[in-house]
Amino acid sequence: MSNIAVLVSGRGSNLQAIIDSIENGYLKSRITVVISDVGNAYALERAKKHGIDAVFINPGNFASKELYEKEVLKVLKKHGSELVLLAGYMRILGKTLLEAFRDRMLNIHPALLPAFPGLHAQKQAFDHGVKVAGCTVHFVDETLDCGPIILQRCVEVKEDDTSETLADRILEQEHKIYPEAVKLFVENRLRIEGRKVRIIES
Ligand code: GAR
Repeated sequence: MSNIAVLVSGRGSNLQAIIDSIENGYLKSRITVVISDVGNAYALERAKKHGIDAVFINPGNFASKELYEKEVLKVLKKHGSELVLLAGYMRILGKTLLEAFRDRMLNIHPALLPAFPGLHAQKQAFDHGVKVAGCTVHFVDETLDCGPIILQRCVEVKEDDTSETLADRILEQEHKIYPEAVKLFVENRLRIEGRKVRIIES
């Protein structure tokens, strides 16, 4: 049973997918804390509804990214966090958290990385005219959205798509692959070999 912490900034639908996967028995883990850098993030309400500690840490109260992350780290340690999931956490990670959770921090990104890292990835892909879009779960490292890739899922772009309809279909796939990737991690079936992640058969 792994203690998971989830970092969020917004609506928290990926957080909800992880919560649901735990509650329906797919994931043998528990979420011990949800931390947001945004005070009114709906993700905090979702956590509370499921009896999970929900903590808002205001980056504005800290003089530097390092001091802010030290506070986040304190809360993560207090909750015995073994795995950290970024789920719509819209902050670039600093050294403090990266080093504390190296190879134990995952992120979900709404594009087929390494294409379209950064913000508004679905719109970037749509505006670029891609025929296939998708989403990626990867380990977090110093690069922006470019750590070793665990799982990806494709979504075909339809002729009548808008960037919003495409983003909705990508999100449906995000909600599937994030729990799948977390399951692989908690079952100790992931091996990072350079840029590649080898998945051990169960
Ligand atoms: C998701 O689409 C996630 O992939 C994206 O933010 C959204 C959060 O939605 N993350 C990034 O773009 C990170 N670079 P959610 O709060 O409903 O899970």
